[in-house]
Amino acid sequence: MFLDDLKAAQDAISAHLTHCLAGLGDAPVVDAMRYAVSGGKRLRGFLVLETAKIAGADPRAAMQAAAAVECIHAYSLVHDDMPCMDDDDLRRGLPTVHRKWDEATAVLVGDGLQTLAFDLLADPVIGSAEIRVALIGALAKAAGASGMVLGQAQDMAAEKATTPLDLSAVTELQANKTGALLEWPAFAGATLGGADPAPLTAYARAIGLAFQIADDILDVTGDPEKAGKRLGKDEAAGKATFVSLLGLDGARARAAALIDEAEAALAPYDDKAHVLKDLARYITSRDQ
Ligand code: IPE
Ligand code: IPE
Ligand code: MG
Ligand code: MG
Ligand code: MG
Repeated sequence: MFLDDLKAAQDAISAHLTHCLAGLGDAPVVDAMRYAVSGGKRLRGFLVLETAKIAGADPRAAMQAAAAVECIHAYSLVHDDMPCMDDDDLRRGLPTVHRKWDEATAVLVGDGLQTLAFDLLADPVIGSAEIRVALIGALAKAAGASGMVLGQAQDMAAEKATTPLDLSAVTELQANKTGALLEWPAFAGATLGGADPAPLTAYARAIGLAFQIADDILDVTGDPEKAGKRLGKDEAAGKATFVSLLGLDGARARAAALIDEAEAALAPYDDKAHVLKDLARYITSRDQ
């Protein structure tokens, strides 16, 4: 049921991304962009679609916004995997962009996907000029130096630091690194439907942190075949994570508490929010 809904959304988002990239032609860098944006769980895009549904937004606008956030996310992974950052060879079960092509291509693929995201949000299909600007401004903040870029910089700095971060520093780092890009979809879905974003963004904040705790747990207990990426990297890098700070059981308990918090935030929507409730559980029980 939930997994069928997720699969249908994944396929629809992938098809829309193919359509969006078709307009850019077939230059080698665009082929590499297609490669980078393919695969993945599409959780950020799915969150846009589901919150937009609850808010009563136009599904075509929601699909465009879903494609935009998946472009930003894919760009962040391409750069995250580069030798100057995490130095990874495998992503989504395939060689990383800098391994399949080269580092210059990986930099440019990231740049191209990032700018494409904002181009997609500037399209009139999104809605009025006011809504387009609201979505673009919020995504710039979530992806930039007050969100994902800041979190990635904090993550890099923590690797070099002599004393590991404490729980509150790790929580702040993760809220920036992964939380901001998981919160934007809820803001976008609500805004597209003209709804109050507060309950949906409160839900997204809770599942964003739970998502990162699950990523940290997977890094220790996961199967690299299923995850499609190298695991065991956090401990090897001496990184403070939710697992290193709380232990496996403590991290699982914290994730479970966050799922309860996420469900409570959905109270105003009753049954309308059952897919979002399932998503919260999926996020912490996933093996990929
Ligand atoms: C992986 O994100 C990187 C993090 C932000 C922890 P996802 O687990 O959502 O990656 P894909 O999109 O499914 O590959
Ligand atoms: C990546 O975090 C987060 C972003 C790309 C913003 P990680 O470095 O923990 O992600 P994985 O484990 O490589 O997927
Ligand atoms: Mg990283
Ligand atoms: Mg990484
Ligand atoms: Mg990780």
